[in-house]
Amino acid sequence: MQNFVFQNETKIIFGRDEEQVVGQEAKKYGKKLLLHYGGGSIKKNGLYQRVVESLQAQGIEIFELSGVKPNPRVSLVREGVTLCKENNIGFILAVGGGSVIDSAKAIAAGVNYEGDVWDFFDGKNSVNDCLPLGVILTIPAAGSESSGGSVITNEDGSYKRAVGHETMRPRFAILNPVLSYTLPSYQTACGITDMMSHILERYFTREKNVELTDRLCEATLKTIINNAHTVLDDPTNYDARAEIMWAGTIAHNDSLNTGRIGDWGSHDIEHEISGIYDIAHGAGLAIIFPAWMKYVYKHDVNRFVQFANRVWDVEIDLNDLEKTALQGIQKTEQFFRLIGMPVKLNEVDIGEEHFEEMARKGTERGPIGNFIKLAEKDVFEIYQLAK
Ligand code: NZQ
Ligand code: ZN
Repeated sequence: MQNFVFQNETKIIFGRDEEQVVGQEAKKYGKKLLLHYGGGSIKKNGLYQRVVESLQAQGIEIFELSGVKPNPRVSLVREGVTLCKENNIGFILAVGGGSVIDSAKAIAAGVNYEGDVWDFFDGKNSVNDCLPLGVILTIPAAGSESSGGSVITNEDGSYKRAVGHETMRPRFAILNPVLSYTLPSYQTACGITDMMSHILERYFTREKNVELTDRLCEATLKTIINNAHTVLDDPTNYDARAEIMWAGTIAHNDSLNTGRIGDWGSHDIEHEISGIYDIAHGAGLAIIFPAWMKYVYKHDVNRFVQFANRVWDVEIDLNDLEKTALQGIQKTEQFFRLIGMPVKLNEVDIGEEHFEEMARKGTERGPIGNFIKLAEKDVFEIYQLAK
């Protein structure tokens, strides 16, 4: 097990009706806030009204910036930075999913910075002084509600880039599973795929003696798998929605990362796809993760055998470990298909025309992944396996 420091200061407030406390939580950070949200789902389901009432009851002045798109754009982030600077806003409340939260984090990072906020995402500068932010989560998926990362797309060049910093972690995150009842089943499934991928990125490590985190990863994956069909068949099932929502946070709050080095190659490979084609991140991962697994499993067959056996209950064939490993990969792919995800690029009308460009852009800062290091030609081969 590697040495590690674990610190996650996001206060999680979980359960029915808990959004009602948002005013009390937010007022700890001042009397002016930016309310940041997406394309309107929070207005349709009444959440917006409840949030505004709770904030106003505490005498908080609200500035609004809506219109965050899935795969959030840097242009709106720049608008948010200007709005905060001009009005001396000291706190950001993100109400939505990963895209809204990531956009809020990028704004928070840009307010106390003289240069352009994209500097953080293309590596020209590092984040060091963020406004505090809070979250009301409406879709369990990205885990951004308690992660220190933000992923933003620059329309100029179709670059989708991630940045991470401890000060970007939200101060609080309100998780009410009822808020996820209105999700379309496709978005629910994208979220399930994304949270599973966050665990798989950590699970496929070269580190050998990490039994506790292996088993925590397996337990979280099994919980997601056991509840996935229930939330899709019965979207207002509170218990199943609650399991999925909490699993999405656990998957990405860094506790499953302790003592080990995760891979993250599949995420980098996927970001090139959603950067150009603007598909949902979870759908991109359902396509890329199985392809990545097929490309790398021979480097540690035993780990893939453990995964097949403990997560998918595949019986180990001691005479043919490779067969067992491949069965685990097949089960993963089948599961993604069963919950309604695409598992091949042609299912989302993506052809080969940008493979070379995506492989080059994805590796232009050096080889990616840690399970094995992937160079440009490897990434190209993975796109070929996914087509
Ligand atoms: O915009 P609105 O109208 O709210 O609609 C959203 C959006 O269209 C809708 N939605 C959300 N909650 C809803 C709802 N519709 C009905 N009822 C509800 N309760 O869902 C759509 C997708 O929302 P989005 O925020 O894009 O989803 P998600 O949470 O999957 O976030 C994806 C983004 O997170 C990034 C991804 O790259 C992607 O850009 N990630 C961020 C990470 C991080 N910061 O730690 C890690 C992840 O690996 C990921 O890369
Ligand atoms: Zn992800």
